Amino acid sequence: EADLSSKLPLKGKKILITAGPTYEAIDPVRFIGNHSSGKMGFDIANEAAKLGADVVLVSGPTHLKVKTSSIKVIQVISAQEMFDACHMYFKDMDVAIAAAAVADYRPKTVATQKIKKTASEFSIELEKTKDILFSLGTIKEKQFLIGFALETDNEIENAKLKIQKKNLDLIVLNSLQDEGAGFKKETNKVTFIDGNFKIEPMELKSKESVAADILGKVVLHFSENS
Ligand code: CTP
Ligand code: CA
Repeated sequence: EADLSSKLPLKGKKILITAGPTYEAIDPVRFIGNHSSGKMGFDIANEAAKLGADVVLVSGPTHLKVKTSSIKVIQVISAQEMFDACHMYFKDMDVAIAAAAVADYRPKTVATQKIKKTASEFSIELEKTKDILFSLGTIKEKQFLIGFALETDNEIENAKLKIQKKNLDLIVLNSLQDEGAGFKKETNKVTFIDGNFKIEPMELKSKESVAADILGKVVLHFSENS
């Protein structure tokens, strides 16, 4: 059905994408977050729209804007909000791509008032957030499910474990090894690993080009399964 030679090879396909960081509230004015810019997820969303897909982009806090109003943007703040938004749309989707840097932990309780600096020492008890991608993997039917992995050691082995644990069809392994790759950078050095553990290292390239490569895998999937 999908036509590789077509200019709109993803026409009619519904794609859910997560992007950006999440912020986990400590009190009304403070949060735990991370340095994710959201650029990778936004580039994927723009590229998917360019290829004709119907895109839902669930994004944590970022200043980025999408390039076309045809992309439905759902802005969220916390991991729980991102989880809820993803579950609202997932059942109807053909593809989901989890590019968000979701906080792994959040404060166990959120103070209702600003915390005062009275104590000389202060600690915050944290609890795990829900793993959005894992939960999508447990309910997936037809969906082609893509995750990212950020590893610093035993990269390939850890990424393979994530494919299995989260029931993924493809993982995009981010290498922090190389200068110029990762958070806040314009470029990424990634390795693709598919559900059969086929490993494909890619060159260091712009995030736009990585996004195009990822959507290329999606197009290929539909051309092989139609
Ligand atoms: N992810 C998610 N929800 C979470 C945590 C992660 O959807 N609460 C997704 C990310 O968007 C990414 C993938 O899971 O696509 C892997 O994220 P990563 O941080 O590399 O792995 P974790 O499973 O969180 O494990 P760890 O951080 O301990 O390596
Ligand atoms: Ca994590």
